[in-house]
Amino acid sequence: MVSTKSLLLAAFTTITAYAAPTKGPCKSLTPTLPTTGGDELVAPSPTARLKKIVIGHGIQNYTCSAPDATPSATGALAVLYDVTTLYPGLSKSALSSEAFNALPHALLWDRPVPLNRPSNSSYSADTSAPFPAHNDLKGLANYPSLKYAGHHFFDTVGTPTFDLDVSGMKAVVMKTGNVAAPKDADKGVLNTGAVAWLTLADTGKGMSKGVNLVYRVLTAGGNPEACDSAAVSAKETEGVQVQSVPYTTFYWFYEQ
Ligand SMILES: *[C@@H]1O[C@H](CO)[C@@H](O)[C@H](O)[C@H]1NC(C)=O
Ligand SMILES: *[C@@H]1O[C@H](CO)[C@@H](O)[C@H](O)[C@H]1NC(C)=O
Repeated sequence: MVSTKSLLLAAFTTITAYAAPTKGPCKSLTPTLPTTGGDELVAPSPTARLKKIVIGHGIQNYTCSAPDATPSATGALAVLYDVTTLYPGLSKSALSSEAFNALPHALLWDRPVPLNRPSNSSYSADTSAPFPAHNDLKGLANYPSLKYAGHHFFDTVGTPTFDLDVSGMKAVVMKTGNVAAPKDADKGVLNTGAVAWLTLADTGKGMSKGVNLVYRVLTAGGNPEACDSAAVSAKETEGVQVQSVPYTTFYWFYEQ
């Protein structure tokens, strides 16, 4: 009979050492991707290896082509913090499920968006240098410090990219699945609703490193305001209305 402690250690090692797929009894302690309770994303295959869980805090960008148009998503920017060892049961510093799952909500409301921004604008980011220095996130009430892990952005040709520069991993991906966030998800600081949960798979162009499958789950905020709202029209640039909406979420990174 293997002790619970050694099983926990084994599960932890799988993540931190990027080991081979878990076998036998350890499998039940591998973190399980959250579910919405409604329509669900296709789960990763049993052989996919979970490499990292991060929390992202940033903005979702949209444009409006006309005052009555449907906002069109144009990209996102976020700073990513490592929360892998905080996953319930994975380490001595692990959180309870309740505390872990409440992280996106806590971060969204406790902190300003961690991006450089023009001084006259509350949510947009400085276009030439949006990311501040690589700081850990400290002092979030009731949580330990979260280690800086990397950046999420859209590359020059608009491809969603996750640069996990601390661990040397990178995911360059495309959306392959989406489901609505649960009805009780955090609607965000503009009360516009939580962005959809997503599956993002490698583009197949050989640009990813160490991870090639990403899930966006437990989203908070990020949905656009209606195109005709005053907040949107106030940010008109060259005839196109743009908006940047704060969001937080977990991103789960796999290699398959
Ligand atoms: C901020 O101010 C600059 C310079 O006055 C202006 O060009 C820009 O449009 C403003 N941005 C917003 C979002 O109001
Ligand atoms: C999002 O909008 C901000 C301005 O708020 C801009 O600096 C940034 O480059 C945009 N990013 C993407 C990926 O659209």
